[in-house]
Amino acid sequence: MPNLLLQRDGAVAILTVNRPDKLNALNAATLAELGDALHELHDDDSMQAVILSGAGDKAFVAGADIAELAHLGPLSGREMARRGQRLFRDLELFAKPVVAAVNGFALGGGCELALACHLRLASDNASFGLPEVSLGLIPGYGGTQRLARLVGRGRAIELTLSGQRIGADEAFRLGLVNRVVPQPVLLEETRKLVDAMLRNGPVAVRAALEAIVHGTEMPLEQGLTLEANLFGVVCATEDMREGTAAFLEKRKPRFVNR
Ligand code: COA
Repeated sequence: MPNLLLQRDGAVAILTVNRPDKLNALNAATLAELGDALHELHDDDSMQAVILSGAGDKAFVAGADIAELAHLGPLSGREMARRGQRLFRDLELFAKPVVAAVNGFALGGGCELALACHLRLASDNASFGLPEVSLGLIPGYGGTQRLARLVGRGRAIELTLSGQRIGADEAFRLGLVNRVVPQPVLLEETRKLVDAMLRNGPVAVRAALEAIVHGTEMPLEQGLTLEANLFGVVCATEDMREGTAAFLEKRKPRFVNR
């Protein structure tokens, strides 16, 4: 894929948006490649988590490709937003953990991409923003919805209407990122966190993710029902028998992903 690198390292897939000369801006071709890669990783049982980052040390993704935006009309604009939204929704609902390693500018569509991931680590030089209004546009890949859900409505309105950029430390203070680390160790630290997840029962990790992602979009009563149902499902797994037996026998579990 010309605009996206896909590396497999053990059970972890590392996706790198690879247009560094355009600060990894998302053109239609890159979005299509991202969709194809997600499809492939969804079907690949040997892959248990995804790390998403940007090529180079300057940008995660500096936004949707402004050269493509400039010519949009009302119908093509709506269609473009819908296409991007569907892809980012697929990412948000991806059954395995997707962690954004934000290594520089995460602006516009890049910020929205990071928001659609399950969690975000940032390098100390990362910056975040939704500058669409400065172009006479609004965020169209979920930014008006996900930012408010993550950091609260007042902060989302401030960031979106001012179009101002914030640094990694401010993003951490707002809860937009989980952790800030020095740029040279960003991927290593992201990998350590993913490895900590992968030491656990893989079916349980996916079920917990499903309960949180879907459950937080439901009224509490329904979310609790979903949690109880998934709890019942994991009680039927070999991994649950193994995990509880290993604890009682004072040994490390050997999970088999079923
Ligand atoms: N779409 C298309 N091209 C982009 C881009 C985007 N979102 N962001 C950066 N680029 C391109 C630039 O046009 C430039 O290409 P060129 O070398 O062919 O002229 C190249 O990437 C490098 O960007 P440049 O602006 O020279 O880097 P900089 O360090 O001076 O500034 C930014 C970095 C991120 C502040 C600046 O590129 C910027 O404001 N980008 C747009 C951000 C944005 O509005 N995103 C939301 C889009 S909806």
